[in-house]
Amino acid sequence: MSNIRERAVASAPAKAILFGEHFVVYGKPAIAVALNRRVRATSTLNDRGEIRVRSMLGYSSIPLASIHGPHSYEHDPHRHIIFSVQSVMNALNEHVGVDILLESDFPYGMGLGASAATSIATIASVSSLLGGMSRDQVFRLSLEAERLVHRNPSGIDSAICTYGGLVLFKDGRIERLDGRGYLHDLRFMIVNSGIMKDTGSMVMKVKARGESSREEFSSLTEMSEALTMQALYAMKCNDVARIGKLLTLNHLLLRRLGVSNDTLDAIVRDAIASGAYGAKLTGAGGGGCVISLIDGSRSKVLFDALSRYETFISGIEEEGVMLYSVDDV
Ligand code: PMV
Repeated sequence: MSNIRERAVASAPAKAILFGEHFVVYGKPAIAVALNRRVRATSTLNDRGEIRVRSMLGYSSIPLASIHGPHSYEHDPHRHIIFSVQSVMNALNEHVGVDILLESDFPYGMGLGASAATSIATIASVSSLLGGMSRDQVFRLSLEAERLVHRNPSGIDSAICTYGGLVLFKDGRIERLDGRGYLHDLRFMIVNSGIMKDTGSMVMKVKARGESSREEFSSLTEMSEALTMQALYAMKCNDVARIGKLLTLNHLLLRRLGVSNDTLDAIVRDAIASGAYGAKLTGAGGGGCVISLIDGSRSKVLFDALSRYETFISGIEEEGVMLYSVDDV
């Protein structure tokens, strides 16, 4: 028990997928970016032998003694957090009462990676409380928590929220793309459609589509891979206009796949008409957010055109999961 601290704080960033969502579930490449919004997890020891979680989803409290696997809390809105805490306790062989406070400055259920970011911040903060864990270990445990929520996640959300920056993800392999000196000037506008999405059901819908129209699905898969590889090249050349065009093409492809809707299409149209280099839905679709690549000097025009939605601007957030010294917070 000597390594145990009273309180620990960690945070993890929001994310957006730029290229390759859905097809990444089938082992194809995808590119994701970390954004400058974060979720912060504060863990404090309690002497009640309970895991207690407070977040924008509400309040949960569960005695350690009543936990016999994930089915003990399968209907709890914080089940991925409770599971994350349990995984850390099992890995470090320390079972103690813990309070977790989750504070986020980005919305839940909108494709910005809130479930991965909350698990990651929780795992980092609880592990710091109980003795410490490497970043790679945090990533691996968060993948398991994501499996609990999304059944068959590709792992891209966990990768980008753990490591930050701009990441190429393929078949579980992670490559950071943002070498110093290029790409750090990219500016994105994120527009929240206000429509909650359900990643699991969108992934199932795409699976059904793949089974019922095999040929079309395989040509969409090839196109998605080609777009992602072209985007990679455009990023290496710092060709912002080309990246924008490829984003819009990716939106059209996702629309063809059946995961867009009228609201997302209208936001994409308005963003491009107001001067964005390109725009697309990001993540599972069916709701959530649109990401546009913009020239920072045109942000006022874009804000005005999209003023009926919640919006924010972000560059590439370099920092993935972060631990804070308790004296700093
Ligand atoms: O949960 P979201 O909206 O960030 O979408 C995740 C991306 C998918 O490719 C649709 C699913 C996955 O596991 O990669």
